[in-house]
Amino acid sequence: MMTFYDYYNNQVKLSFTKNPFSEDPRHVWVISRFNNKWLLTEHKDRGLEFPGGKVEKGETPEDAAVREVMEETGGKVASLEYIGQYEVEGKGGNIVKNIYFAHIDALEEQSSYFETKGPVCLTQLPATIEQDGKFSFMMKDGVLPHSLEYVKKAQLM
Ligand code: GTP
Repeated sequence: MMTFYDYYNNQVKLSFTKNPFSEDPRHVWVISRFNNKWLLTEHKDRGLEFPGGKVEKGETPEDAAVREVMEETGGKVASLEYIGQYEVEGKGGNIVKNIYFAHIDALEEQSSYFETKGPVCLTQLPATIEQDGKFSFMMKDGVLPHSLEYVKKAQLM
């Protein structure tokens, strides 16, 4: 398990094992690939981030992952792999989020992308994300680099 602090100085615990913090996580985050590019969404307030959100009543986290990718990017998930989980000790309580890696095989234009401006494809994730105002705080702590390293080592892409 790894422990570090996020952009807002909240403590984050991260592990690439099965459900280390909760069997019933309420949030999901999906590191997505489409056409050999990273597929992100542009959140209206937070900026560029991988799609994700809350697990709704009656959904599994995997259902939520597939739905959030579609809602926020129009992306059709072709494959979805659980890679890990993290817990953030926020000011208003703890949240637990599952991390997935997904291959997307089509982008379907949506009439609404909910609280986002829709899909953004990037050939590369810049090395300067932490200092880049275009990116969301969610992309600015240890979760992203550790997850990308996991994806690379596990040869998921
Ligand atoms: P709503 O309830 O939909 O209004 O969303 P919210 O932003 O108030 O709450 P949410 O439950 O999504 O998150 C609560 C807090 O947890 C946020 O304000 C963040 O501080 C933190 N948080 C949520 N997701 C992440 C994440 O992926 N990474 C980090 N570091 N913190 C997160």
